[in-house]
Amino acid sequence: MRFPPARIIFLCTSSISSTSAFSWGKSRARVLDPEARGAAIGYGMVLNDLASSGLKPDEVETLFLQNDALDEYPRKPDCFRRAAGLVRGRCGEADMDEGERVKAAISLTLCEVSTARHYSVPMECLPFGSESQPASESSPEDCVEALSRSAQFWSSYSGYLREVPQLCYAFRRWNDIDTAKDIYRNATLEKLALIRLLVTREKLLVQSQEQWEALRTDMSVLLGNLHESAIGFDEASQVVLRTMADVFQHGSMTLQASLSDVEHRIQAGTAQYLLQMETVVGALTDKHALSLSSIAQSLERALSSALDKSFLALNERTEGIVVLSRDMSNLWENMIYDFGSMQQVRKLAFYSFAVT
Ligand SMILES: *[C@@H]1O[C@H](CO)[C@@H](O)[C@H](O)[C@H]1NC(C)=O
Repeated sequence: MRFPPARIIFLCTSSISSTSAFSWGKSRARVLDPEARGAAIGYGMVLNDLASSGLKPDEVETLFLQNDALDEYPRKPDCFRRAAGLVRGRCGEADMDEGERVKAAISLTLCEVSTARHYSVPMECLPFGSESQPASESSPEDCVEALSRSAQFWSSYSGYLREVPQLCYAFRRWNDIDTAKDIYRNATLEKLALIRLLVTREKLLVQSQEQWEALRTDMSVLLGNLHESAIGFDEASQVVLRTMADVFQHGSMTLQASLSDVEHRIQAGTAQYLLQMETVVGALTDKHALSLSSIAQSLERALSSALDKSFLALNERTEGIVVLSRDMSNLWENMIYDFGSMQQVRKLAFYSFAVT
């Protein structure tokens, strides 16, 4: 039995089909689960972008067809899914070499064989079954030879072998689309973050504007109150000033009166005092004059008597001195006379010596 790969793909693509999101697509009725729908819408966006990027609709559709084929492989029983996963993993590397392509085609063929009851997998191919561990050491040539013995197996194998590059192409597209989706998702996330940031800032701005507004209102109320208070204060201060001026005037008048009164009193007191002083001083002066004259008289008397006594004693002394000096002079004359006599005596004595 033989299912040409193209037919499989065709069956797959016709069983699942595009949504209306694919604008270029022919009307293909499709029933999708929610997850697939989300993915389809995502694809729709990406493919819409591709469509508007200048690709021709049939090119886009080709991409879509192969993409659909890939979608279908993993949906098939586990064997196909594993085989498709294997192919996809190998496509990720550089271009698949021939050995890898052969192995992939064998895996897919074996999957197909295992769906048919009356055929069993050739012994040589067992190591390449997708259930078994990947046997890189085993040579695929024996398996290929075993497959070539059956016309159905060979047809299947050669079909898959032809299909593998197309599969890889589709996988690469798929990867590209995945990357594009990833970028788109990231950009959307960044956009969302930016919008969130802007919204937050906007909210903060509005909040602070409201706060300012409230503050402004408070301030204007405050200013109004201040203005009223100032007017009140002005009036009160004028009243106070007037009262103070009155009080001051009254006070100064009273003070002036008190001062002149005090002045008068002082003047009167001073005059009286002076008068008293004059009287006292006059009395004192009289008293003093009286006692001074009496003192002078007695002093005069005492002085004159003392002077008399002194002069009397002085006279007596003087007379004594006069007498004394008279005596002295007499004595002096006598002495001179005596001295003369003595000289004559001495001369006489000298002559007497000389003679002898
Ligand atoms: C998308 O964002 C994730 C997480 O930030 C990052 O790991 C990934 O490399 C990004 N993808 C692209 C294509 O930039």
